[in-house]
Amino acid sequence: MNEIKHFPLSELCFCGQIGGFNAISGCTVFKGKDDDGHTIAIKQFNVLSNQYYKTYHARKPAFDTEIDLLRRCRHPNVIEMLGYCDVNLRDNEEKLLIVLEWAERGSVWFNVNAHDRLPWAHVLKILKGVGSALEHIHQHPNRAHRRLSPSNVVLMRDFTPKLIDFNQFERDETTYTREDQDQFFIAPEIVDRSGTTCPANVDRYSFALLTVFLLTHEGPDRQYKAGKNQGNGAFEDWLLQNKYVEEGKNCHSSTTTEEFQTVWHLLKRSVFAVDPNDRSAIGEVIDSLQALDR
Ligand SMILES: Nc1ncnc2c1ncn2[C@@H]1O[C@H](COP(=O)(O)OP(=O)(O)O)[C@@H](O)[C@H]1O
Ligand SMILES: [Mg+2]
Repeated sequence: MNEIKHFPLSELCFCGQIGGFNAISGCTVFKGKDDDGHTIAIKQFNVLSNQYYKTYHARKPAFDTEIDLLRRCRHPNVIEMLGYCDVNLRDNEEKLLIVLEWAERGSVWFNVNAHDRLPWAHVLKILKGVGSALEHIHQHPNRAHRRLSPSNVVLMRDFTPKLIDFNQFERDETTYTREDQDQFFIAPEIVDRSGTTCPANVDRYSFALLTVFLLTHEGPDRQYKAGKNQGNGAFEDWLLQNKYVEEGKNCHSSTTTEEFQTVWHLLKRSVFAVDPNDRSAIGEVIDSLQALDR
């Protein structure tokens, strides 16, 4: 296994915060520069000096897990970890930082909200890249990402997608709330802790929702935010109505309804399968998407 570089704090320059503090993960992400002037991302696991023991013990396992998984899951569509920094500044203050390559376009979530419509070629490139990373991770039977969502995929300048946010250890103390946007994309058996036979099934669920999100700009959280109801079933009802299939909307203009029907059927199978083992394989979804691309 490759050695991971340990960055002295003095070699990291913090340029600005990306997004807010995530109360669920306890992390803040910064844009920064290394000693050679290269732009980097710095993910900080916040340890609060006034609640040192509580926050240190809450964050350290997630920090260690993220480093370990990023090291083992190296792939062109997994964010590259350049190193880490953990320093004890004073007896009561520790810095836990992971240094990552910088993805200049930001998250899929940001890109979908910032554009009217992503070109089909970009949508396909993103889904193929994410699918490839997941299939790589799933080669190990006990491994899965578990938190795939539009904010946990970031895009390079040429729209190459990179998976981020690998600290998916079991946090027993966590109570998920509907305000946590990622939460809507996470498989139900993770949320209600009913378990699953194969961890890859969890990612199949999220991959289907990510695909729906990229194709239609609709996701379960949007229905919630729009206040249509409290997120209970509104998105599922919408998905079942097949509106997008009938109108052949949001796809490449030469796509026929029939071809889109195949994609939609596979996606619905992943979302609605009672048994997680019945969810569509990621490769199957990608093949059906490629058939739309002419
Ligand atoms: N390497 C990166 N390049 C650019 N932006 C990033 C990078 N890593 C994270 N971000 C931004 O920070 C956000 C939070 O990062 P993430 O690792 O998912 O932390 P959290 O545990 O808080 O969800 C992402 O949604 C993305 O907008
Ligand atoms: Mg995240």
